[in-house]
Amino acid sequence: MPKIIKTLKEMREESIALREGGETIVFVPTMGFLHDGHRALLKVGRRLGSTLVMSIFVNPTQFGPKEDLASYPRDLERDLKMADEEGVDIVFTPSALEMYPEGFSTHVEVTGLSDILCGASRPGHFRGVATVVLKLFNIVMPHRALFGRKDFQQLRVIERMVKDLDLQVEIAGIETIREKDGLAMSSRNSYLGKEERRAAQCVPRAMEEARRIVADGEAQSSVVTEKVKKIIENEPLAVVDYIKVCRADNLLDAPVIDECSMLFLAVKIGKARLIDNTRLR
Ligand code: PAF
Repeated sequence: MPKIIKTLKEMREESIALREGGETIVFVPTMGFLHDGHRALLKVGRRLGSTLVMSIFVNPTQFGPKEDLASYPRDLERDLKMADEEGVDIVFTPSALEMYPEGFSTHVEVTGLSDILCGASRPGHFRGVATVVLKLFNIVMPHRALFGRKDFQQLRVIERMVKDLDLQVEIAGIETIREKDGLAMSSRNSYLGKEERRAAQCVPRAMEEARRIVADGEAQSSVVTEKVKKIIENEPLAVVDYIKVCRADNLLDAPVIDECSMLFLAVKIGKARLIDNTRLR
């Protein structure tokens, strides 16, 4: 079983000792309710260093006032079992009170990148993510940290923060893991009822169609996004939040599709807000 650490002091002391002992710390931050996407991160993490640390912390500051903080799925016992199976050495589960004590008033804002796509629909979300990730980096002191490419914008925000603030941690993005029908794995998929789960297939289906028409020669992003919109809107349970083609490096709009272009989409189905992305070439 992994060692469970609950306090910031103990985690920091452990990390200092590990570093002094010459260990390489690999870190996978999570909000728990682990699935095969997390397993993939942990499997890669296991190979990238000698000590694998995973955090489980449902970070309140990245949820909007009307979002699902209270109902976010949690199952610590199951998570610990999975962490054990994947060879995690330390599970760090801080409390919200210790992470954000009274008087807490410092935030990290990665401007620009945080204000588009999901940031436009979820104001303050990436400020919460960047702040907690920086805090976790300072406490866990990892040499390397892994993030899923499903949350591609989050990955770019963290890479930018690491570069801008000269943090001594290497960031790696790991490929999205999908269900058999193509739906990207996410803890929030557990919100989907049977009918909604079937409806959610419109997302991978639309992405596949986008890749197909680009492979057939379409280079206008507006044509591709229109096609994707039609497929999603054809599904009565799905509500489009955004569908955009952007550059993979800076997430700016890419009106013409080339090797660097990616399709990004966010779709609401019932209580679940599904996000996904795909390279187009
Ligand atoms: O991707 C997540 O699960 C969260 O945004 C993260 C990186 C653990 C920060 O709370």
